Amino acid sequence: MLKEADAAEVEHLGFIRRLLASEAYLLRDHLLRLDGEARYRRFAHDVSDDFISRYAAHAGDFGNVTFGYFVDGEVRAVAELRPDILMHRDGAEVAFSVEKPFVNRGIATKLMGRVIRTARNRGLRHLMLVCLPDNAKMQAIARHYGADLSVEDGSVIADIVPQEPDYHSWFSEILDERMTYLQSAFDLQTRVRRAAEI
Ligand SMILES: CC(C)(COP(=O)(O)OP(=O)(O)OC[C@H]1O[C@@H](n2cnc3c(N)ncnc32)[C@H](O)[C@@H]1OP(=O)(O)O)[C@@H](O)C(=O)NCCC(=O)NCCS
Repeated sequence: MLKEADAAEVEHLGFIRRLLASEAYLLRDHLLRLDGEARYRRFAHDVSDDFISRYAAHAGDFGNVTFGYFVDGEVRAVAELRPDILMHRDGAEVAFSVEKPFVNRGIATKLMGRVIRTARNRGLRHLMLVCLPDNAKMQAIARHYGADLSVEDGSVIADIVPQEPDYHSWFSEILDERMTYLQSAFDLQTRVRRAAEI
């Protein structure tokens, strides 16, 4: 049985919401703050700042959905859902990253719940997550949501099968979407105010 994050969660002073297409720079800034090891685990290879900037520029491409964990207007963790149009028409890839000061607080687990609900509501049948074999935390999170784990080409692949959408999954997403735009305006205000104080 898959569990889902509740709507508009606020915890550890943070707030989970979808990033708007115009907020790709927040994903970039978050990924740039990851240390070398976290970058390696996220992308399965070493990545430069330039690579991250080019990668993040596509965050708002059609079909992509990125959820951020916001603290004081900044993104401190993300879950990225990228439709896998070439390989599986009804599938998507998911990836996670949490900045070091925020790990082990259940944030990635909550983000996964949000991503699964989005996948349900879009009729996706498979969520694929690829991680390194020694990434026990990521695998624990995938198992938490009932993933099937297999090893392919030296990577662990977790396949999560979302349930069919229902009234609750639709309604809670609609409610969260309303908060997304409101919260995005507050977050921008917070960042502008902080920049003016420097
Ligand atoms: C992996 C990562 C996303 C986890 O984020 P997080 O917010 O710290 O994870 P959570 O706190 O939600 O959950 C951690 C889970 O791992 C478990 N865990 C913690 N340490 C563990 C360990 N050494 N071995 C096994 N499980 C462990 C926790 O018990 C928890 O599982 P539970 O909820 O079932 O108890 C984060 O460490 C990260 O960004 N790593 C770098 C990027 C990355 O590895 N991305 C994954 C590939 S896309």
